[in-house]
Amino acid sequence: MKALVLAGGKGSRLRPLTHTSAKQLVPVANKPVLFYGLEAIRDAGITSVGIILGDTGREVRDAVGDGSAFGLDVTYIEQEAPLGLAHCVLIAREFLADEPFVMYLGDNFLVDGITGLVDAFRAAGCDARILLTRVAEPQFYGVAELGPDGEIVGLQEKPEFPRSDLAIVGVYTFSPAIHEAVRAIRPSARGELEITDAIKWLIDTGRSVQSHFVTGYWKDTGRLEDMLECNRMVLEAIEPDVGGSVDGLSDITGRVVIAPGAVVERSVIRGPAVIGADTKIIGSYVGPYTSIGEGCVLDDAEVDYSIVLGESAIRGVSGLTHSLIGRYVEVTRATGVPNTYQLMVGDHSKVQVRA
Ligand code: TTP
Repeated sequence: MKALVLAGGKGSRLRPLTHTSAKQLVPVANKPVLFYGLEAIRDAGITSVGIILGDTGREVRDAVGDGSAFGLDVTYIEQEAPLGLAHCVLIAREFLADEPFVMYLGDNFLVDGITGLVDAFRAAGCDARILLTRVAEPQFYGVAELGPDGEIVGLQEKPEFPRSDLAIVGVYTFSPAIHEAVRAIRPSARGELEITDAIKWLIDTGRSVQSHFVTGYWKDTGRLEDMLECNRMVLEAIEPDVGGSVDGLSDITGRVVIAPGAVVERSVIRGPAVIGADTKIIGSYVGPYTSIGEGCVLDDAEVDYSIVLGESAIRGVSGLTHSLIGRYVEVTRATGVPNTYQLMVGDHSKVQVRA
């Protein structure tokens, strides 16, 4: 069995970060979200992995390499434009050959991994087994309708009137029958080859399409809110580990990881939190559910419930919360005219100031 990991796409909901970097590489507890997926694939006993790349392909290649660091053998497949999830299957035909495979959307996060799904698919001998979860707002998802034996009998894509509350999660297992399906369908109104249409084709041509329920926590990390929530979930379970240096005037409480080379002076860190390698936290407060990347500086700063990517600096700023801060960002206090904000932010940035 092989795996096909989708790491292309537009990432429009995470702009401006995704103007310059891959959304699948935004870190959760200082580890790219994509890496959790690759580890889950390996843990399910799959080693041959094809990764679909888009505009941010170079960055993904640099991060994953040949896959050996994960115990995987990785083949890269370039997609000329984000033409849909089923298009990814179409262009991976040669790599996938005639083996069954798991398709994994690279921005999805599953705490319990995919071993349960993959084992059940292997045992069932069906043409597709699709991961589902109950959601409060099914109108924003692909929605499945189940028959009496748990087989999927109908699918709706972001329906105005959902026929169930069962959303399709971004992990699917397929037999080679899916190749005929992706060749048979036509692009949707939004111009993409939809995987839901391909699965519908399987159902309509009498193939067996089964359902599998997510155990544990699942998130599509496409939006800021989801990233922060995912970060919170992972930090809840981290093992405290202080590898860096912490002076006697600092106070570290709760689950806190301080990577080697990090320096904490005159600061308070209330876990769960992670501090990346070579980061300096000076005279600052880092509150719960915060991940600070590597090579950052926090000086006279207060941050909580946030993700800060590597090499960024926050100086003389308090009350930063609920934030996602990219790489090489500087957040400092405006000098000169009192009570002013001085901003230089990129296209599609979002800044929320005090009401
Ligand atoms: P989506 O989240 O559906 O799309 P997107 O990445 O374009 O994001 P946004 O909605 O914010 O613009 O994609 C799910 C995953 O599949 C994601 O990891 C990107 C990947 N993908 C591809 O690799 N190729 C594609 O053609 C599409 C549509 C998505």
